Amino acid sequence: MKVIPSERLWFNGELIPWDQAQVHILSHVIHYGSGAFEGIRAYKGEKGPNIVGLKQHVDRLFDTCKIIGMPIPFTPAEIVKAVVETVRDTGHEACYIRPFVFRGYGELGVDPTDAPVEVAVAAFPWGSLMGADALQQGVDVGVSSWRRMAPDTHPAMAKAAGNYLNSQLVVTEAKRHGYAEGVVLDVDGYVCEGSGENIFFVREGALLTPPLGNSILPGITRGYAIQLAKDLGLTVEQMRIPRELLYTSEEVFFTGTAAEITPIRSVDGKLVAEGKAGPITKQLQAAYFDILLGRVPDRHGWLTQV
Ligand SMILES: Cc1ncc(COP(=O)(O)O)c(C=O)c1O
Repeated sequence: MKVIPSERLWFNGELIPWDQAQVHILSHVIHYGSGAFEGIRAYKGEKGPNIVGLKQHVDRLFDTCKIIGMPIPFTPAEIVKAVVETVRDTGHEACYIRPFVFRGYGELGVDPTDAPVEVAVAAFPWGSLMGADALQQGVDVGVSSWRRMAPDTHPAMAKAAGNYLNSQLVVTEAKRHGYAEGVVLDVDGYVCEGSGENIFFVREGALLTPPLGNSILPGITRGYAIQLAKDLGLTVEQMRIPRELLYTSEEVFFTGTAAEITPIRSVDGKLVAEGKAGPITKQLQAAYFDILLGRVPDRHGWLTQV
């Protein structure tokens, strides 16, 4: 994900030149991972970019900050406005948006309480996460030797910067082994998610996905996939998923803002069914892009037009 600079970004309340958005090397976040962030996409619409799930992403950012005790010095409405202004200012028809809240410079003990809280929003162009073919052909993944953090260690439901050391270990190991992504199990060996995606299974025509209590991020796209599956009349069950279902399901796919809806064609070198994108995955993918790309009305109110 190469960062392509825009002219300006939003930093602590105003749009400033991209290169001037700097922090001191002794900022708390750099040493202790004391940050919270969101990853949002805007797709090209007829009348300008459409931001996907803006309110939900901002709500999750506030939830993350509440969980980790990092008060955001702006209201949710101000952050929503900042995201819209930032996207508009870049002039991009479609882009990736990164709101970021972090502990800045001034205090360097582990206790973050007295370190200032700063906020930035940047937007830049970005294509598909796992390559153009991934959405059609599916990806090869492997089960990680790393586990997702146990419920009483890190807050998995928070999109907190420090959690992503776990994700980095997972994705780099997967790539070293020749896979596009890793699938992480929880401390008891049940399936959680990918390093940056939620995961779904199709069994006897019904959708299965791990529940929130299973050390996963409450993905916005996960919620959308559940909604779209219900729209299609499919049953969706949130349940603990044994590893064996990775090898024996009819279909397996990832969801995420970055990954969108990406089929998984093999796990640990074993093909998922025939090793192709399955029919339900394709149906959900089509329904998802129909809304995001404005081909059908936004019946669930997911889009914010810039
Ligand atoms: C660990 C993890 N799980 C799942 C997701 C998918 O979440 P969303 O659909 O909100 O992008 C992400 C991406 O943000 C993630 O980092």
